[in-house]
Amino acid sequence: MTDATRILELRAELDQHNYRYHVLDEPSIPDAEYDRLFRELKALEADHPNLITPDSPTQRVGNAALSAFTQVRHEIPMLSLGNAFEEVDLREFDRRVTEGLDLPTGDLFGSGAAIHYSCEPKLDGLAVSLLYQDGALVRGATRGDGTTGEDISVNVRTIRNVPLKLHGSGWPPVLEVRGEVFMSKAGFERLNASQMEVGGKTFANPRNAAAGSLRQLDSKITASRPLEFCCYGIGQVTQDIATTHTGNLEQLKQWGMPISRELKVAENIEQCLEYYHDIGARRTQLPYEIDGVVFKVNSLAAQRELGFRAREPRWAIAHKFPAMEELTELLDVEFQVGRTGAVTPVARLKPVKVAGVTVANATLHNMDEVARLGLMIGDTVIIRRAGDVIPQVMQVVTERRPENARLVHVPETCPVCGSHVERTQLIKRSKGKQTVSEGAVYRCVGRLACGAQLKQAIIHFVSRRAMDIDGLGEKSVEQLVDEGLVSSPADLYTLQFDDVVKLEGFAEVSSNNLLKAIEDSKRPSLARFIYALGIPDVGEETAKVLARSLGSLQRVSEALPQVLTYLPDVGLEVAFEIHSFFEDPHNRTVIQQLLERGLQLQEEGEVHPEYAASTTLAGMIAKLDISSVGPTGAEKLVAKLGSLNAIIAADGIDLRQALNTRQAEAVREYFKQPHHAETARAVEAQLQAFGMHWASEKKAVEGLPLAGQTWVLTGSLEQMSRDEAKQKLEALGAKVSGSVSAKTHTVVAGPGAGSKLAKASELGIKVLDEEQFLKFLASM
Ligand code: IVH
Repeated sequence: MTDATRILELRAELDQHNYRYHVLDEPSIPDAEYDRLFRELKALEADHPNLITPDSPTQRVGNAALSAFTQVRHEIPMLSLGNAFEEVDLREFDRRVTEGLDLPTGDLFGSGAAIHYSCEPKLDGLAVSLLYQDGALVRGATRGDGTTGEDISVNVRTIRNVPLKLHGSGWPPVLEVRGEVFMSKAGFERLNASQMEVGGKTFANPRNAAAGSLRQLDSKITASRPLEFCCYGIGQVTQDIATTHTGNLEQLKQWGMPISRELKVAENIEQCLEYYHDIGARRTQLPYEIDGVVFKVNSLAAQRELGFRAREPRWAIAHKFPAMEELTELLDVEFQVGRTGAVTPVARLKPVKVAGVTVANATLHNMDEVARLGLMIGDTVIIRRAGDVIPQVMQVVTERRPENARLVHVPETCPVCGSHVERTQLIKRSKGKQTVSEGAVYRCVGRLACGAQLKQAIIHFVSRRAMDIDGLGEKSVEQLVDEGLVSSPADLYTLQFDDVVKLEGFAEVSSNNLLKAIEDSKRPSLARFIYALGIPDVGEETAKVLARSLGSLQRVSEALPQVLTYLPDVGLEVAFEIHSFFEDPHNRTVIQQLLERGLQLQEEGEVHPEYAASTTLAGMIAKLDISSVGPTGAEKLVAKLGSLNAIIAADGIDLRQALNTRQAEAVREYFKQPHHAETARAVEAQLQAFGMHWASEKKAVEGLPLAGQTWVLTGSLEQMSRDEAKQKLEALGAKVSGSVSAKTHTVVAGPGAGSKLAKASELGIKVLDEEQFLKFLASM
């Protein structure tokens, strides 16, 4: 096949996948395969630039920036819609339509010939016109004032679901498609997040984001924005398509045009109202924002008969939903203290009804957000309720700022306990350099001495997915703390009947039930217990990973941050949180007390073999973040020098055998600092204690007496610790694994050995008790 043929084939295939994805919502290949085809086409086009056509799917990337948009006259004006807010407005519209069509109105005898309406969501974006000539997109334009808009052809071409070429055949030679360009809620969130990251402009709502993205003189920016198109009608056209509005849309869909999935036909105005209520109930769950629904007389003949009044069609109406945004006044900013001590600003607002719900408070997230909004107390602000989430302050109306507006200050002391409030620091490590910058979060340093943190910590500790202590609600926790009966989670385990029965709402039976629930919580799994501790940023998933990989509270609490980063989904920041939590003397005391008061952690055991196998010396060196030394450099270093000690001790000449001069210099500079070498050694020692094997040491194993054998240690040993036994076996060349399989050579079983011993006998594997094991070691 020639490249030219393959190019055509790829374009047709990509178009088809685009259509299935964007219009039919039935993708038939995974995204990765699409990307592969796309890259293949791009590469072929790069080889043959003369074969690039404007309708190729690779051409949605934007062009050189324009200095201004040119104006476009709409052959057929782009109109707006009349609005209905209440049911009566809609019934009035139906009456006008019926009368306008000279049909009998529905009467007592049911002789009314009902009118069919198309029902569509009213997307909150911008109206655009797309002109197709002989099936090819030739122009895109904004609505403008309805008569004259702007030519945004290059921009609309970057929108993924706008067909550059119509599918199939039979389309009119000239076809103007109209619809809405919008941004999904998810796209909007993503865009704002990335804008915030790069310090760019954020948008107050998806509509503004869509408008700001579409009207860009630099179409490359448009191309990078998650815009979508939805077709809701036609403008000029050289021949009729169908006899109804929905017939038109269905045909356009066949030609590759995205239309609403919510499109329906109502057979009378009652069904329109049902549609309005149904969509209204699902409004917050829809992936895009809508401000109402649109009803259109479905028969095109009837539309023509009804015609227009001023700038609105008589045959269509928008039935609006209550607004999701309102203006109100910021009365004050108060600070709340959360479980981890984060002191967060909360907006106290002059109560305002937003889409039927009275809003008096809104979260402000953190002080960076306050700064970003430029918020001052006394300001008029735009409040937005997006779905069921907590209302948000979107924007300040600066023009309305009163003269006595006040700056927002973080309190220096905790509003609950009076402890010092500290600004958190962000530790970033890159290219061997550690930079510390000010974080957005302020924290009360009071920890469990702060009533707010203590209460939240206990509420979290007893919650269902943590220690699952039933019967202890928020109110009772508050009371226990306020009356000084509980000053740490460990104190729950010293509560007596007399303490509990005094609490509000407790009687004899409920007190006994609570004490029993506390007693029953004493054997949590390791994962539950870690989660219950409430370590910042450690959710259930991370707790499970920690428990499963490291196998014991001891190892979790001793693990160095760098060692923790080997665990799936544990980044350096979380690793530091975990490490510093267990370093904190107060936390250690509480954990100690919990264990002394009868807590017995379940499922403690070995380091997971997969975790042990996930570490390599090169991987560890790459993690040190030595400038210009990435994974490949680290691999080379290890291949040449073999061990961490050799790398630390190496001089420039040794290092240059593996690396280029710049890298070699960087490695030497790095390890010249004693604390770097020390940390690296500590990390290595701990990883080895946790059971990993460096690749280079595996080689050295050859020739040792136990090379190639896998041993398993189970139960408790009396003469030596399991770690010692393991080291001895490894020194002899054995691999020590956490689980018994057919490949296991020998199992050493101490008292208390359970399932592993059983499995060993089942598989007929040799088993040694401690005494036999010691004798064996002595004989080696
Ligand atoms: S029909 C002559 N259908 O609402 C009819 N408009 O207030 C013209 N809109 O400018 C519009 N979804 O931007 C129609 N399904 C829909 C719509 C819709 C959103 C917007 C459009 C129009 C405005 C009219």
